[in-house]
Amino acid sequence: MRLGLVTGNRHKLEELSLVLRDYGVELYMLGIQKIEVQSESLEVIALEAARRAYSKARVPLIVDDSGLFIEALGGFPGPYSSYTYKTIGVEGILRLLHGLPNRRACFHAAIAAIVPPYEKLFHARSCGFITESPRGTGGFGFDPIFTPEEGDGRTFAEMSVEEKNRYSHRAKAARMLGEWLRETFKRGVGPSKHL
Ligand code: IMP
Repeated sequence: MRLGLVTGNRHKLEELSLVLRDYGVELYMLGIQKIEVQSESLEVIALEAARRAYSKARVPLIVDDSGLFIEALGGFPGPYSSYTYKTIGVEGILRLLHGLPNRRACFHAAIAAIVPPYEKLFHARSCGFITESPRGTGGFGFDPIFTPEEGDGRTFAEMSVEEKNRYSHRAKAARMLGEWLRETFKRGVGPSKHL
């Protein structure tokens, strides 16, 4: 089965491809801009972006919308993570948390899938802590300042993609998607002309 991914982020493509490969799904980057509506819900943003992309591309596709929710900041930056990363960045987040004892945070991912005749949403999170300073060179975004609680203390940026996928919000949501695809299309039911 082939699925288009609406993103310009090659890290998302790499992380998701690796998970979905195990479910017989080949993911490719769709050359369509992800249109983001303003909402506090990652699910609404992902689903709306997927619907808009589908109305243009007309092929089975997925959209990942994700964000970092920091407890001491009331969930900020959350759905505004992309803008926050571009503006104040990793250093800005560390400044906002300076001196605060509570460094707990969770990444959330919402994956919207449009695989006619289905429209599905998968949501997962990865919780952990914001480090005192950036560590590691891998990954993207806030990876250098986030350590998952199930891990060994390394940040996502200090892990290989395979290791990050053991704990990450995105990989967990992608495994849910993979299970659903496997279950739904196991008897060849569905939009076979696209798949
Ligand atoms: P969007 O999902 O493309 O709207 O972007 C979400 C933003 O959240 C990214 O630009 C990153 O700054 C941040 N983010 C989401 N997922 C991750 C991740 O797995 N690692 C690091 N940062 C992430």
